[in-house]
Amino acid sequence: METKQGKNPEMERKQQDVTSVLLREERLFKPRKEVADIAYVKDWEAELAAGNDIEAYWANKAQQFEWFAPWTQTLDTSEAPFYKWFVGGKTNIAYNAVDRHVRTGRRYKLALLYVNERGDERKVTYYELYREVNKAANALKKLGVKKGDRVALYLPPCVESVVSMLACAKIGAVHNVVYAGFSVHALAERINDAEAKVLITADGTFRRGQVIDLKAVSDEAVSSCPSVETTIVVKHAGNPITMSDLSGKEVFFHTLVEGEPSECRAERMDAEDMLYILYTSGSTGKPKGVVHTTGGYMVETATTLKDVFDIHDDDLWWCTADIGWVTGHSYIVYAPLLLGTSTLVYEGAPDYPQPDALWSIVERYGVTKFYTAPTAIRHLMRFGDKWPQCRDLRSLRILGTVGEPINPEAWMWYYKHVGNERCPIMDTWWQTETGSFMISPVPTAPLKPGSATKPLPGIHADVVDQDGKLVPPGKGGFLIITTPWPSMLRTLYKDPERYVKTYWEVIPGGVYCPGDIARKDEDGYLWIQGRADDVLKIAGHRIGTSEVESAFVSHAAVSEAAVIGKPDPIRNEVIKAFLILKEGRTGDAHLVEELKKHVRHELGPVAVVGEIVFVQSLPKTRSGKIMRRVLKARELGIDAGDLTTLVE
Ligand code: WT7
Repeated sequence: METKQGKNPEMERKQQDVTSVLLREERLFKPRKEVADIAYVKDWEAELAAGNDIEAYWANKAQQFEWFAPWTQTLDTSEAPFYKWFVGGKTNIAYNAVDRHVRTGRRYKLALLYVNERGDERKVTYYELYREVNKAANALKKLGVKKGDRVALYLPPCVESVVSMLACAKIGAVHNVVYAGFSVHALAERINDAEAKVLITADGTFRRGQVIDLKAVSDEAVSSCPSVETTIVVKHAGNPITMSDLSGKEVFFHTLVEGEPSECRAERMDAEDMLYILYTSGSTGKPKGVVHTTGGYMVETATTLKDVFDIHDDDLWWCTADIGWVTGHSYIVYAPLLLGTSTLVYEGAPDYPQPDALWSIVERYGVTKFYTAPTAIRHLMRFGDKWPQCRDLRSLRILGTVGEPINPEAWMWYYKHVGNERCPIMDTWWQTETGSFMISPVPTAPLKPGSATKPLPGIHADVVDQDGKLVPPGKGGFLIITTPWPSMLRTLYKDPERYVKTYWEVIPGGVYCPGDIARKDEDGYLWIQGRADDVLKIAGHRIGTSEVESAFVSHAAVSEAAVIGKPDPIRNEVIKAFLILKEGRTGDAHLVEELKKHVRHELGPVAVVGEIVFVQSLPKTRSGKIMRRVLKARELGIDAGDLTTLVE
């Protein structure tokens, strides 16, 4: 346990930007034979070594795709940090994700399996997807959409949202998907920043037994978006809507594509042509338009999905994210289709109509690879083990998580009750900005619950202090990515200066700074400790929120936890914890004392808990991340900044 300051005076000086490590996790899970036997990556260490030559490694991975013209240079660093990959290469990602398979035995394979909370389903083969994408692509062209034009999507996860994204990619238009839970203001802001020419929306979306009207939100947003020439409306939920009578301004999706030819030539895209913009909100200021391009994004999203989840031809892949987030872009749409696998698209909540909503779908369709968020797991844990236990989950082979650090207790629950102690858990660390998984095990890696293990082959990361100096193993510091990677963001839309400042000028040495804190252990495994902005500062120690929250959740009564630093005259800050209890537990003074003791026992005397409050819910982003700054602002009575991403 690391509770004292180091003796070395140099380390002492650095204490302010090095975080303390309090939590120890000793469990190790070795790969099981049946998983290792079929894995693509047989020898993890050897593959990591192969990735040391990033150019050779990624050039080799790029060979699996069709290029209309070969690249002449794998990586161009001359204008760093504006890196270019596969320079001069020409390709089309929609062509590689759909057309390529139609010429093979995958022609009639299931490409999309759409399922919603009401139990409706829709199955689309690769051949059907091919025809639908081409029709939609032709329809967009007819509306005057050209290569480089932006098309905004405000849609539920459904077949048409996948078709629309691919149709844009096929003709070289840039899609800008806005999560369908965002407000009028957030939608309008994103459409205006991207200057989208077309908006594709739907009548409504299903949410917990209700239909949410999306058309009304779109109408209000579009009224302040002068760039939008046409709104295309998908009839999806069947709720009554009114269409504008201005001819041509609004049109139904099905009317528009009807009669369009089912063949469409793929636009010849440069590897560095823009594929999409996806807005991600910072804690302050306006949302950042993350720009992803074509070639490198194609290569790395597909490679990482294949190697991490060991995708074979008989898999049914399910990523439970929404299409409106990068997770949906990369791992519901592009990577699975690039690999020719079957991808499940789910529209619904994880606990509706019952807490076994996810498990019943796994059972019904025989899902083999399942990828979700720690926040969903912690939430479902609260309802008890019986929900996964009453479902047949034997089809599952590999599980995964993304979005936040997964605390060891939630990892163990997922491992035991969902994976039946058979399925390895891939804890994938990455960001909207990185486009693909960056730090993650592969199925043959020995796993430690709570660690995303090591950077993937071809990726290099480390932990440093504010001056960019490596911190020794066991100490926490800033996570950095030290070499460029193919699916990296290329810039922030219309704001290259902010791109350089936000990611490349935080730590000296020309390295990418994701804004997370982490530590590396003696085995080189990385442990993400939380966002640098949220770090607690207690009596000279910097402590990541994740460790403290993990300690709370490891108590049998607690299902979810969020902690902030509460100002304290003696220790600078003490911990204030907001806890959601498991069903059937009551938060009384006795439990408060017990929890304080428990955390002290888990983390040592540094982690001083000042106050515990029991709550019914925590402020979260629409993608499920806890917004600690909202709790903190409330505590301090200050303005919480931009709240457009906060769920009401
Ligand atoms: C931030 C990025 C990219 C997918 C969804 C989120 C946190 C993400 C992990 C993980 C610990 C994680 C980080 C990161 N995060 N995955 N496996 N372990 N933390 O995308 O909204 O761009 O958020 O999510 O803090 O910086 P995003």
